[in-house]
Amino acid sequence: MPAQAAGTVRLGDLVVQRMGFGAMRVTGAGVWGPPRDREAAKRLLRRALELGVNFLDTADSYGPDVSEETIAEALHPYPQGLVIGTKGGFTRPGRSWRADGRPEHLRAAIDGSLERLRLARIDLYQFHTPDARVPFAESIGALAEAQRAGKIRHIGLSNVSLAQLEEARRMVSVVSVQNEYNLGDRASEDVLAACARHGIAFIPWYPLGAGSVLRSAKVKRVAMRHGATPAQIALAWLLAHSPVMLPIPGTGSIAHLEENVGAAALRLSAEDLAALG
Ligand SMILES: NC(=O)c1ccc[n+]([C@@H]2O[C@H](COP(=O)([O-])OP(=O)(O)OC[C@H]3O[C@@H](n4cnc5c(N)ncnc54)[C@H](OP(=O)(O)O)[C@@H]3O)[C@@H](O)[C@H]2O)c1
Repeated sequence: MPAQAAGTVRLGDLVVQRMGFGAMRVTGAGVWGPPRDREAAKRLLRRALELGVNFLDTADSYGPDVSEETIAEALHPYPQGLVIGTKGGFTRPGRSWRADGRPEHLRAAIDGSLERLRLARIDLYQFHTPDARVPFAESIGALAEAQRAGKIRHIGLSNVSLAQLEEARRMVSVVSVQNEYNLGDRASEDVLAACARHGIAFIPWYPLGAGSVLRSAKVKRVAMRHGATPAQIALAWLLAHSPVMLPIPGTGSIAHLEENVGAAALRLSAEDLAALG
């Protein structure tokens, strides 16, 4: 199956293909409300699995609730080996995004995700974003408590600095970090390097720069050389850049999904990598 060409990466004791799917866009415009065509969204999720994808990224705030509910409607009972990573720590007042890292919020968020995803335990629960109004250790403590209670198998982080990653690692076993990262935005290079050192999966969000990387002249030039698309080059570059990289390109289109998963088999040469810089 096409996703398998990317090889695998570990999430604690779980092993997933290194080409996942980001389910943020299985919602309405602005990551709000239901998708225009719910049946099409479900077909997209099922197609991802047919292509060999076995890691899905979602969050309670996508919709809100809609992305998790649609995953359950499309895929439950889940096939053996599928790993769903969800997140909590954002609320959506008036469609905006507001951090909420209070332990009481996270406890309720975890219970809500368990119910919507129809799971007894969440394989990967990611703290979506540090909340400046709540000590980081208190938020991580809530996840540790949920893990001890058997509600969470593994803990991941998102939108963290190197210092926050290290602080969390002193409290719990961190299996993944999800930060913005792509060819055009490498601000999290230090966090990625720490993940590689510690065998932590790095999940780059906006792997296509929400589309901006696709307009880059150097990406287009390398794409021409391979008879590939710019999206495939952007994803192949991520896969080549680090063995702990686990891209989760998001799309609402089956054609784009197939194209993106196709990047798993693309191998960039030293010349390509130098041209991409
Ligand atoms: N942790 C966080 O704070 C955070 C923040 C943002 C996102 N995320 C996660 O990261 C995932 C990926 O992010 P993303 O979906 O926003 O960004 P992305 O994957 O960088 O880009 C998605 C955009 O590119 C388009 N696209 C996808 N494949 C394409 C292709 N082959 N050719 C041309 N255009 C293509 C999509 O439009 P079409 O629908 O038309 O294909 C969409 O507009 C999300 O689904 C979510 O799970 C996490």
